[in-house]
Amino acid sequence: MALKTKKPDYSHLDASMPIGVFDSGVGGLTVAREIRKVLPKENFIYYGDTKHLPYGDKSPEAIQGYSSKITEFLLDQGCKAIVVACNTATANALKEIKELVAGRVPVIDVINPVAEKVAFEIHTNVGVIATKATVSSGIYRKSIRHHNKFIHVDELATPLMVPAIEEGFRNHPITSAIIYNYLSHSKLKNIETLILGCTHYPLLLEEIKQFYGNRVRIIDSPSIVVGQLKFILESNHLVNTQNLNPEYHFYVSDITKNFEKISKKIFGNAIPLELRPL
Ligand code: DGL
Repeated sequence: MALKTKKPDYSHLDASMPIGVFDSGVGGLTVAREIRKVLPKENFIYYGDTKHLPYGDKSPEAIQGYSSKITEFLLDQGCKAIVVACNTATANALKEIKELVAGRVPVIDVINPVAEKVAFEIHTNVGVIATKATVSSGIYRKSIRHHNKFIHVDELATPLMVPAIEEGFRNHPITSAIIYNYLSHSKLKNIETLILGCTHYPLLLEEIKQFYGNRVRIIDSPSIVVGQLKFILESNHLVNTQNLNPEYHFYVSDITKNFEKISKKIFGNAIPLELRPL
């Protein structure tokens, strides 16, 4: 007899509640931007842990500690879903986050929906670029091959990309040199598909595309993740359809010039940053 898993009960949640989104810094804004595009009537609360950035060179224990505190904060703010918009937190702390949430709200991460989608489409050689802490967990390789053993997955740590993005070096010779150096690595020589395994990296998408031309397909992770979020909200009658003036709140653990610049560029000047140390 097949084991039945109990459907979580979200009857205490309401469509008007905000979605909670977090990352170590500006990376999760690439997911928040997609939420605004696909679910335009949703309110959301974003938390960027700019004080502890980058997560990519922290220990799993440190990442678990930060992620748990942010999750508690988002639950206290009355969020109806939590989007872990950080690969490094997903790779190192998803279990702890889910334990803490204990089924009260859905938790959507940025790795599992992408790995599943890639595994079920036909990709023979897949490359993943990500932070050191994500690559050392081996999570992309394990998750993709769990669904499809015929796929060859190579993961490469590209630790200089997040600091370059957080320093605002986009369309800059420094980022071009970093991208050229990493993407020329022998591990990525035969890939047909590339996963940007860090939510910061879509902010360098144009430069990455320039490197490859049309040779390599780059997976649009934010759209897959938000597709999953939409599906879960719809299945639980939690999509906000009434709200004509969605509210976005941005909290950070340290106010940085670059966070202000990028969040304003994406979401407009009217959005103030609120300082909320962990
Ligand atoms: N944006 C994050 C990720 O997706 C983390 C980057 C970092 O803080 O190192 O992994």
